[in-house]
Amino acid sequence: MIVGVPKEIKNNESRVGMTPAGVFELVRSNHTVYVQSNAGVGSGFTNEDYQQVGAVILDTIGQVYAMSEMIVKVKEPIKEEYTLVQEGQIVFTYFHFASSEALTKAMIKSKAICIAYETVEDEDGTLPLLTPMSEVAGRMAIQQGAKYLEKPVKGKGVLLGGVPGVAPGKVLVLGAGVVGIQAAKMAAGLGAHVTILDIDMKRLRYVNDVMPPHVVTEFSNEFNIRKHIKTHDLIIGGVLLKGAKAPNLITRDMLKEMHPGTVIVDVAVDQGGCVETTRPTTHEDPTYIIEDVVHYTVANMPGAVPYTSTMALTNVTLPYVLALAKDGWEVASSKNEALQKGLNIVNGGVVYKEIIEAFGWQSSMV
Ligand SMILES: NC(=O)c1ccc[n+]([C@@H]2O[C@H](COP(=O)([O-])OP(=O)(O)OC[C@H]3O[C@@H](n4cnc5c(N)ncnc54)[C@H](O)[C@@H]3O)[C@@H](O)[C@H]2O)c1
Repeated sequence: MIVGVPKEIKNNESRVGMTPAGVFELVRSNHTVYVQSNAGVGSGFTNEDYQQVGAVILDTIGQVYAMSEMIVKVKEPIKEEYTLVQEGQIVFTYFHFASSEALTKAMIKSKAICIAYETVEDEDGTLPLLTPMSEVAGRMAIQQGAKYLEKPVKGKGVLLGGVPGVAPGKVLVLGAGVVGIQAAKMAAGLGAHVTILDIDMKRLRYVNDVMPPHVVTEFSNEFNIRKHIKTHDLIIGGVLLKGAKAPNLITRDMLKEMHPGTVIVDVAVDQGGCVETTRPTTHEDPTYIIEDVVHYTVANMPGAVPYTSTMALTNVTLPYVLALAKDGWEVASSKNEALQKGLNIVNGGVVYKEIIEAFGWQSSMV
């Protein structure tokens, strides 16, 4: 198969859909790989890195789309790319169709085969192509939180690890899922005292088994949250209710109970956030302050660390890319149920019912 890797043109997106290691595997299996010139520079890969493993470098995004049977990228196509997508072409990327009717209609019109990373789903209900980004965001949450606790950026002025003779900082983690556990691990590693809350006892038992004693688990309810926000310096929001808006576990009135300079990193911002006062921010202007509480609410945290994020993403996408290149989408998805769940739009029809429901459409074709 001919596989194309365009450069991402979405604002501030430096990740790339395939690393030289991925190209190496595809070329070894006798596939052709076209990479747009400089597609990998933001993630630390030069044109020469790709050429050395057998990729052909093309100058323009138009050439990559026009000459490839499958496009492998990171973010959904943006307006400028809509007309580049070809009929019958496989496009394998994050789409998040339910949040954009314009994109959905454009991909229906294109008659392409749109396979969305975010809906590829394992038997146990986990989302293998989303997990690595949650891992990145969870770990990054502590790095960012530690920074914004510093006084010059309006934080409380607390060093998370403390020093000999001075108690460490306190971190409250809401949700013991992928984000929460990674955040707790990083905070514990810095020496902070960590409290982690969840409503799922299985998750709390697991955390209790694997974490050091300065990571304490508690059941998540309003009483416990109100108690802990008064004493913790950094609060991480990592809750998720699948397919729904995150619950507002911290309401506006609760901010008044917090110590001035407390920092909230609401990672769940992409699902509406678990703090009432959360609104999405960008890496250019990541924070804002309400009631003296610093809010960090960047909706695409992994975008700030493209070297790590690209590798983490492509490690998990590559097996699917190889299967699609070998068998084509029909056979590959019939052999692999997880991949089949990734099919969102096929030859001009929506095949993922949640998208139809999201727009209140009556049929899969518009
Ligand atoms: N901002 C970003 O850049 C970024 C990056 C990656 C992920 N995310 C988001 O982070 C959120 C968490 O993702 P995840 O992969 O960790 O999800 P996950 O499903 O692994 O974990 C969510 C956890 O929240 C728990 N939960 C549900 N209701 C709760 C409540 N009332 N109190 C406490 N815990 C509760 C669940 O039991 C679960 O353990 C998602 O919204 C995800 O989209 C954001």
